[in-house]
Amino acid sequence: MSIRFDGTRKLFFLESKNTTYQMKINKMSVLEHVYYGARVGDTDMSYLHQYLDRGFSGNPFEQRAYRGCSLDLMAQEYSGCGVGDYRINSIMAVSENGSRSCDFRYKGHEIKPGKYSIPGLPSVRMNRDEMETLEITLADDVIGVQVKLLYSVLFDKDVITRSVIIKNIGCRQVQLEKAASASIDIPYGDFDLIQFHGRHCMERQMERVRLTHDIHVIGSKRGMSSHHHNPFSILCDHDATENNGNCYGFMLMYSGNHKTEIEKDQAGSVRVVTGISDDNFSWNLAAEDSFYTPETILSFSNRGLNGLSGNYHRAIRENVCDIKYLDMKRPVLINNWEATYFDFDTAKIISLAQQAHELGIEMLVLDDGWFGNRLDDNAGLGDWFVNEEKLPGGLKKIADEINALGMKFGLWFEPEMINENTKLYREHPEWVLRDPDREPMMSRNQMVLDMSRKDVQDYLYDCISAVLDSANIEYVKWDFNRSVANVYSNLLPAEKQGEVAHRFMLGTYALMERFTQNYPNVMIEGCAGGGGRFDAGILYYSPQIWCSDDTDPIARLKIQKGTSYGYPVSTMGSHVSASPNHQTGRETTFKTRGIVAMSGTFGYELDLNKLSEDEKEEIKEQIEEFHKYYWLIQKGTYYRLTDETQETYYNAWEFVSEEQDEALLNIVVTDVHANPEFPHVKLCGLKVKSTYNLEGTDKCFTGAALMNGGYSFGAMSGIYPCEQLHFVEKK
Ligand code: DGJ
Repeated sequence: MSIRFDGTRKLFFLESKNTTYQMKINKMSVLEHVYYGARVGDTDMSYLHQYLDRGFSGNPFEQRAYRGCSLDLMAQEYSGCGVGDYRINSIMAVSENGSRSCDFRYKGHEIKPGKYSIPGLPSVRMNRDEMETLEITLADDVIGVQVKLLYSVLFDKDVITRSVIIKNIGCRQVQLEKAASASIDIPYGDFDLIQFHGRHCMERQMERVRLTHDIHVIGSKRGMSSHHHNPFSILCDHDATENNGNCYGFMLMYSGNHKTEIEKDQAGSVRVVTGISDDNFSWNLAAEDSFYTPETILSFSNRGLNGLSGNYHRAIRENVCDIKYLDMKRPVLINNWEATYFDFDTAKIISLAQQAHELGIEMLVLDDGWFGNRLDDNAGLGDWFVNEEKLPGGLKKIADEINALGMKFGLWFEPEMINENTKLYREHPEWVLRDPDREPMMSRNQMVLDMSRKDVQDYLYDCISAVLDSANIEYVKWDFNRSVANVYSNLLPAEKQGEVAHRFMLGTYALMERFTQNYPNVMIEGCAGGGGRFDAGILYYSPQIWCSDDTDPIARLKIQKGTSYGYPVSTMGSHVSASPNHQTGRETTFKTRGIVAMSGTFGYELDLNKLSEDEKEEIKEQIEEFHKYYWLIQKGTYYRLTDETQETYYNAWEFVSEEQDEALLNIVVTDVHANPEFPHVKLCGLKVKSTYNLEGTDKCFTGAALMNGGYSFGAMSGIYPCEQLHFVEKK
């Protein structure tokens, strides 16, 4: 089993296929974090922790005779606050008398079969894996706060999940001002921090910096996980590459405000604390009340960044997303957004579907503009009933005609939002998040509904279900197009306003849960102005997320590559759009756009009327190719072949089947040169001794040749030239 407790040495072992995670109850009953890394067998790794009397790092009262013992230097599993550990704390608990101190001691533990779940929050599912739960109880008896630290292990995927239940076990009120999901102390190492920052239309840009003696903060206060800082970060050896070196991943399964803090302390140890952001957060814990933190998904690999990504890809496909999508082929779609924007009617949509059908496209998604008085992006949000003037016969007519072609029909919603000029706002202005005495901050001319309210959730459920029941709608694109501000709920008293941001997320998840339970045949595509909520929380409800509003394939190379460090391509919504591209004005070939979009959930988003017959033929061929490689791309092992930190003029990546009997090699040259150096890559993941044929040629190579010698593409010229090569094992 993957979890055990050695009572003699007071050591907890969490073991996965390639990793060991150790904790120890020390003499003071503090739960120490001992080790996380490659497997180490049965050795008690606490020999690594050496204590020294360091000036200004004080000593707990009971250890006052021994100055070598300090909470400030101890590697801890979940640190308290205000009692002499001056590093980042895991919790901030304020007692009724104003005291801000909390000091945890071990009280007991249980190892239970199965995986824990978290009330109201998405968490890793057990599905086909065998899992256990370790529940360690710590408490501070003075303030009356208990924390239950929860752990589970995905053995084959080298993934450990963590969450915390914080309970008021006293008889007085406690105010939580910080409640992290996990804290990890790593005593040795020379690390780089990798994080994924960005902005609208340029999400998840990888940034790698060397850790220095300071505190790095990655987070969001936008009420969404955000385009700006993804809730996923990596610590890796300074010399780690895509295929070598130790890498730790920290992924928060949460779609709201988050914060990950990384501190390198006076002794060179590194502490990582991750969880809900403590900015604008507080939670009122009455006696006996509990607070549940979101889950953190940890992983370690000593096989470099590709190894770490592989762990996350498998865990997300099989244990975060609903498992039913694992073996379900998703339709190649056309979305009308960049084809028509708001300028459409029934005839235009049906004609788009007819043309799409002739090319082999399998689903049409009707985007923004079908409801209320939504003629542009200034009005209509909240009035979720069809605009019959624009679409006479309603959605049923459109869905029926599309179904008659043999295609599926999908529809866009933006449930959490509201415009001023709507029936909904006229009837329920109190449903908006806004300060009582202040005009709300506007963005895209819209406001945000108070999702913490049950009546708001019920309204959205009822009116969206009425739409879903009115026609055969098999896909919903769930959008979210602004950052949240004026986080104030009319229903809550002053002392609970710090809870609104998290209650907003709980309300959103409750609504998503209701739809996924009651409409199991409707697949949700997550979206937030592109990839503003690209996180494991949303992936629990929707197996794919629109990756970015930038559909330019050259910009997408970086966006999708950045996304790939934590998330599999099966989650990345990616479409072929028009050239010149609507966001950047850049011209690219159909082939380049196709290769990039195929490394995601494939679709089209352009006006088919404007295409030449040759281009239509290209679409047909692309779709055939995509079907041919579907499972290799969606379930194969993904390898980045070009190192982001090196200046390269090309970008290459590869998919290898689970059986290692085929590989799909992709390359796009982003900067062509006369008299060029030849793009050259070393493939990964093949069988050393097998021979692989380059399909369509009589060229054969051993796996060892392709992995050690590599493959050279020769000179490539033209507009962002690209290649997609299929290597098949000769049996
Ligand atoms: C933002 C999305 O990312 C786009 O694809 C599109 O759906 C628009 N919203 C519609 O308003």
